[in-house]
Amino acid sequence: MPAEIISGTDVARTLRAELKAQVARLPEGQVPGLATVLVGDDPASRAYVGMKNRAAVEVGIHSRQIDLPEDVSHDELLGVVEGLNADPGIHGILVQLPLPRHVDETAILEAILPEKDVDGFHPVNVGRLAVGATDVLAPCTPRGIVELLLRAGHDPAGKHVVIVGRSNIVGRPMASLLLRRGKGGDATVTIAHSRTPDLGAVTRLADILIVAVGRPGTVTADMVRPGAVVVDVGVNRVEDASTERGYRLVGDVDFDGVREVAGAITPVPGGVGPMTIATLLSNTVQAAESIRQESGAGTASAADPASGAGTDPA
Ligand code: GUN
Repeated sequence: MPAEIISGTDVARTLRAELKAQVARLPEGQVPGLATVLVGDDPASRAYVGMKNRAAVEVGIHSRQIDLPEDVSHDELLGVVEGLNADPGIHGILVQLPLPRHVDETAILEAILPEKDVDGFHPVNVGRLAVGATDVLAPCTPRGIVELLLRAGHDPAGKHVVIVGRSNIVGRPMASLLLRRGKGGDATVTIAHSRTPDLGAVTRLADILIVAVGRPGTVTADMVRPGAVVVDVGVNRVEDASTERGYRLVGDVDFDGVREVAGAITPVPGGVGPMTIATLLSNTVQAAESIRQESGAGTASAADPASGAGTDPA
């Protein structure tokens, strides 16, 4: 029997509707503000940032896109980030990656105030997530994957999750999220990567297999345990003269082959991508609420009432 198709499009639509209702209940002065910064004119980055802004507006978040030329200087970009840090109407700052080579990407990400870091890329947020904090802004793609798994009825608790890919955007924070105690966590986690010998021997151990390497055909049917849940994070353009654009999008997983073996699988497009965007909106609402609480009388994090920051012994 072919695998269940897990629709990120459908789950993200539900999530956005929930966020829209949440934002609508806020007084006008408390509407969250998101700023996206796009450097250069890479078509894929422009498309992603456009989608993020449109989705923000649709749920009622104030959205501001700042376009900078490819040859913007490091100091100029730093100045833009500092201006957004100081802007009380902006609660979330996203600098679309990758940045041009002449810009020090690490320094730019470190310049974003951790409480406005809706990408969860600042070392303070990365570190707090790594020690098991739950009241933290976590990266959008892995957080979206956890939400997708939970809402599709595939709770990772007690499961062996194999992640293929060790990037800072997906693989590493994915492991940190799945290792946390409590909802969405409590998994046994293995990370495989480009230097893992016999990748198939590792991926076949997975109850849940998450593939994020950016290479089509990385995982084929023989590498998947029958009944496993497969999450495909890859978004790759492959030439296809039969389409109007001349290309089509495929993931890292051989979808047609793997769907005959897996129990459930996310499609590309329509799987993880929409969840990444919906989670960015959720992070922006969370950031606005935390900033408001910090500046007001409150002390607890409203974003996650079960929050228990601190280290995680075992
Ligand atoms: N480039 C690819 N994915 C991402 C992301 O999640 N955030 C940012 N800022 N840039 C990206």
